[in-house]
Amino acid sequence: MAKITASVFTSHVPAIGAAIDLGKTAEPYWQPLFAGYEFSKQWMKDNPPDVIFLVFNDHATAFSQEMIPTFAIACADQFKPADEGWGPRPVPVVKGHPDLASHIAQSVIQDDFDLTIVNKMDVDHGLTVPLSLMCGQPAADKFEWPCPVIPFAVNVVQYPVPSGRRCYNLGKAIARAVESYDQPLNVHIWGTGGMSHQLQGPRAGLINREWDNAFLDQLIADPAELAGRPHIDYVREAGSEGIELVMWLIARGAMSDQPPKVRHRFYHVPASNTAVGHLILENT
Ligand code: DHB
Ligand code: FE
Repeated sequence: MAKITASVFTSHVPAIGAAIDLGKTAEPYWQPLFAGYEFSKQWMKDNPPDVIFLVFNDHATAFSQEMIPTFAIACADQFKPADEGWGPRPVPVVKGHPDLASHIAQSVIQDDFDLTIVNKMDVDHGLTVPLSLMCGQPAADKFEWPCPVIPFAVNVVQYPVPSGRRCYNLGKAIARAVESYDQPLNVHIWGTGGMSHQLQGPRAGLINREWDNAFLDQLIADPAELAGRPHIDYVREAGSEGIELVMWLIARGAMSDQPPKVRHRFYHVPASNTAVGHLILENT
């Protein structure tokens, strides 16, 4: 039987990927941000998953206004880093896990969540930046991510987007699906995007430290209550792109009902014009 043992939560700011790719991580602006992920990279080495179920959002890269799945599970055997306008990031191709992904699709769809099945998708910064932060840059002579990844895309770009409650309950269905897989796999589930940020309009650059940290507190201690928060609160308090945080409820919902062990917590401003939040939770 497969098991979800831990969840990881992290922002996915594209400028972080650019800082890594251009060798700027030790610069004074970036050093404090990357220092917050030193623990995480070691933790990944000490607690290697067999598979990562990576909840992220596509930023009109693989999908467009022509087709907008609310929840999409990627079942292919590999996913190329996307060209988001300045060439693909120099990071490895993401290897999938078609067998587990298909099993989860079967289980979750029969459990009343209507997922879109994706058999071809390039993955943008929403997925590659969290991998870079958590795994570092793979060595040239072994240019691959440490394990297979199942990309799971959520629409948080075009309204209507799914509610926090829907995301939280979907996480529970994903956990049931993983637990009914007949191979003994150690699965980590990641929730990415956020924290407070607004990229356009008169409020561009909005950061709300207090709200972000209260969100982290509640995500750890009382996610069921947090799941009831309406979209308008995210948008008002955390900015228009702060709504990405609803995706964290999928990963949190997939954790056991026991209080998790908080292995790492980090919060930093600024990264480009956004706040960065990061948690590692282990099932107890
Ligand atoms: C930016 C883009 C994002 O998708 C995000 O989540 C944060 C920041 C940006 O373009 O700066
Ligand atoms: Fe984003």
